[in-house]
Amino acid sequence: MLDDAVCAGMNAGLEASIETGPLDDLTPFFGTRISGFDVKAIRSSGEVTALQRLLAEKQVVVFKDQDLGPDDVLGFTKLFGTPDPHVLSQFSLPGYRDIYVLSNIVEDGRHVGNRQEGFGWHTDLSYFANPAAYTMLYALEVPAARGETLFASMQCFYREMPEDEKAKLRPLTVKWNYERMYSLRTNVPPLTDEQRARTPEVTQPLVRIHPVSGRESLYTSRDGCAGVHGMPEDEGLTLIRGLVQRIIDSPFTYAHRWEARDLVIWDNRGLIHTATDYDMENDRRLIYRTSVRGERPIGWSEHVRSAVKEPA
Ligand SMILES: [Fe+2]
Repeated sequence: MLDDAVCAGMNAGLEASIETGPLDDLTPFFGTRISGFDVKAIRSSGEVTALQRLLAEKQVVVFKDQDLGPDDVLGFTKLFGTPDPHVLSQFSLPGYRDIYVLSNIVEDGRHVGNRQEGFGWHTDLSYFANPAAYTMLYALEVPAARGETLFASMQCFYREMPEDEKAKLRPLTVKWNYERMYSLRTNVPPLTDEQRARTPEVTQPLVRIHPVSGRESLYTSRDGCAGVHGMPEDEGLTLIRGLVQRIIDSPFTYAHRWEARDLVIWDNRGLIHTATDYDMENDRRLIYRTSVRGERPIGWSEHVRSAVKEPA
C-alpha cells in the first residue's frame, strides 16, 4: 500500500538515527539544512541508510560548511552507490571521471568546467534507463549574487492533485531523449558518436513509485521529454509542459542561495531543479557535481502487479 501521509510535517525522528544534530527545514514541505556536521564522519552502512531515509523524506539535504577535496566528494558519493559520469565527459575534473565541473572559470585558455549546464527544469540523467537516484553539488566558489539552484517537488505537487487526474496520468509512459534536449542548447559543439551511442531514447513511467518511501510522484521535465506514448507529439508535449509549469508555479519550491562549502544532495526521484543565471563575466563559480545511478523507475501498473500475490 502506498504511503498516504502528507508531505508537510513528517519527520519520523530521523535526526536521532543519523545523529547529525537538529534539522532546519528549508520549506514547510520539503528540504532540510544540517549545520555543524562533517559528512566525512559518515562511515557505517546504518548511517548511510539513515541518510537515504532522510533524503526520501526531505528530498533535498543541505550540509553547511563542509571541507572537502575531490577524493572526499567522490568517497561521499560512493557511499550511496555507483557514480554515473556525465555524458559530457570533456568537463570532468582531470583525474576524476566521475566528478563533473560546473564553472565559468577559464584557466590557461581552457574552460575548467561547463558554464551552461543545468539550465531548464529537469531531473538528472532521466534520459538513461537507470536515471540518477541522487545528485551532489559541492561549492568551492560561488557568485556574489544570483546563481541560485531552484528545486520543485513533483512528489508534493502530485500528492495534492485531484484523484481523477492522478488516475489518468498513472498509466502514461514518456519518451526521454538526450539528443533532443541537447539540440535545444545554443553555442554547443555537436555530440560525439560515443555520446550519442550512450544516450538512446528511453521510456519511463510518468508516475513513478519511490523505492524507499513507496510514495508516488510525477517524473517529468521541461525539455528532456520527447513525447508521451500513445499521444500525438504536440498533445503529449503540451501535457508535459503544462504539468511542469504547474509544478514550478506551486508552493512546493525552494531556491538555494549558495555559500562556499555548501554540500547539497538531492533525491532526483521526486524533484525537478534548474540552475539560474549569474554574472558570468565578473563573478566566479566552481562547483563539483557527482551523481549516483538509481534503479529503473517503477510505474504504478508494475508496482500494483508486483504487489498482487498469486493464490496458493
Ligand atoms: Fe541537474
